[in-house]
Amino acid sequence: MNIDVVILAAGKGSRMKSQLPKVLQPLAGRPLLAHVLETANALDDVRCHIVIGHGAEQVKAAFAGKSISWITQQEQKGTGHAVMMAASELDLQGITLVLYGDVPLVKVETLQNLLGRVDDNNMALLTVELVKPSGYGRIVRDEAGKVIAIVEEKDATTAQKSINEVNTGILAIKTSQLLALLPQLSDNNAQKEYYLTDVIALSVANGVAVNCLCIQDETEVQGVNDKKQLMQLERAYQQIQANRLMDEGVTLADASRLDIRGELTTGQDVFIDINCVFSGKVTLGNNVSIGPNCVIGEKGKQVFIGNHVEIKANSIIEEAQIAEGCVIGPYARLRPGTVLAADAKIGNFVETKKANIGKGSKVNHLTYIGDADIGEAVNIGAGTITCNYDGVNKFKTIIEDGAFIGSNTSLVAPVKVGKAATVGAGSTINKDVDDEALAVARARQKNIEGWQRPVKK
Ligand code: UD1
Ligand code: MG
Repeated sequence: MNIDVVILAAGKGSRMKSQLPKVLQPLAGRPLLAHVLETANALDDVRCHIVIGHGAEQVKAAFAGKSISWITQQEQKGTGHAVMMAASELDLQGITLVLYGDVPLVKVETLQNLLGRVDDNNMALLTVELVKPSGYGRIVRDEAGKVIAIVEEKDATTAQKSINEVNTGILAIKTSQLLALLPQLSDNNAQKEYYLTDVIALSVANGVAVNCLCIQDETEVQGVNDKKQLMQLERAYQQIQANRLMDEGVTLADASRLDIRGELTTGQDVFIDINCVFSGKVTLGNNVSIGPNCVIGEKGKQVFIGNHVEIKANSIIEEAQIAEGCVIGPYARLRPGTVLAADAKIGNFVETKKANIGKGSKVNHLTYIGDADIGEAVNIGAGTITCNYDGVNKFKTIIEDGAFIGSNTSLVAPVKVGKAATVGAGSTINKDVDDEALAVARARQKNIEGWQRPVKK
């Protein structure tokens, strides 16, 4: 059966105190709404409608290119009114599922469970029991325990306020039934709003019972209204990621000091030390070890790290492909276009960009390698710089297999150093060096015997 998911996202979110609309506030590096959409899209036969109002253009722009039916709610006259705006888009034969754009952690299984409770005689409602229910709509049941209504906090009697079971806002109902009930909603209540929650009592009055799913895990249905709640859900999300990794066999030094803001895929016997951040799409092979304080990957970028690679402390890998057996860092920075063949070594304070570095080659200290092709078994001395940029254009440096570049060498590109060639320390190389040759390009040393140091007058 077709499922129309209506995601309510028109609210302002003034408590965020931000220029960014609430549903675009980031959780794990992605808008809150992106999490909800991803979960909704994981359901079968689904079509997503998003009701927007405040910051509508900004929200749409953030999801440009996605197949979404956008519904504009000019004035925010309540959750019932918001769903009314989507009415003409819904498939009469299907089921409508209502979600909130600011409730990001609801699970697909929970939604499937909820949808399974809907039929001609039942609508489904997701509830939760809270120790402190204030602010939420309360679930009112009759003596037999059947749900008969939801009362909003502002309309509730003192007795009703003591009810701990509350409305999460998430519900599912046969679309034909919903469309029959929506016109019956009124704004005759404390907030002068069209409450979607009134659908419950109307439904019961029409002989359609409410099949409740009372969820155990509060975080699944928690909404985000301010920066404190945003941070709490960020921590909850990260804990879920950490648990998943540990279930898959990853060893974490501290599950509470790990942040995953993208997709992290891991092999066997991976170790991740404290304070690491993973973004974009990161793949780790078997026996990979990541030291403390590493930042791996960037939004929209990919990092591939092969088997038996060791990333030492404080390294930053923006976008790179690292083959097996490489050792990186501490304090290395691998920028986009870095491709390392097996067993390469990139040491401290080394920056690479658009660099192919061959098997077993070493770039161990204080070096910049950009726009370069480096062969196998090359040794690059400390302080070597590829001078790849003349202020306008970029040029390439080629260093062939077995070459040895002495410390503090400037390689002025375009330039090529041949196979097994040697460059003397302190050279500025701007002419190609033949295979097996030695290039020395520095002022000759002059020694002055018996030199008298100046003395104070
Ligand atoms: C709503 C429920 C309440 C429930 C609570 C759970 C109603 C009347 N009340 O209350 O029973 O316990 O959520 O968090 O439904 N929105 C629109 N357009 C509108 C109004 C709201 O798109 O005109 C969106 C908001 O952006 C938000 C969601 O709907 O994502 C809920 O709105 P909010 O004002 O937070 O509802 P509550 O008063 O908290
Ligand atoms: Mg409200």
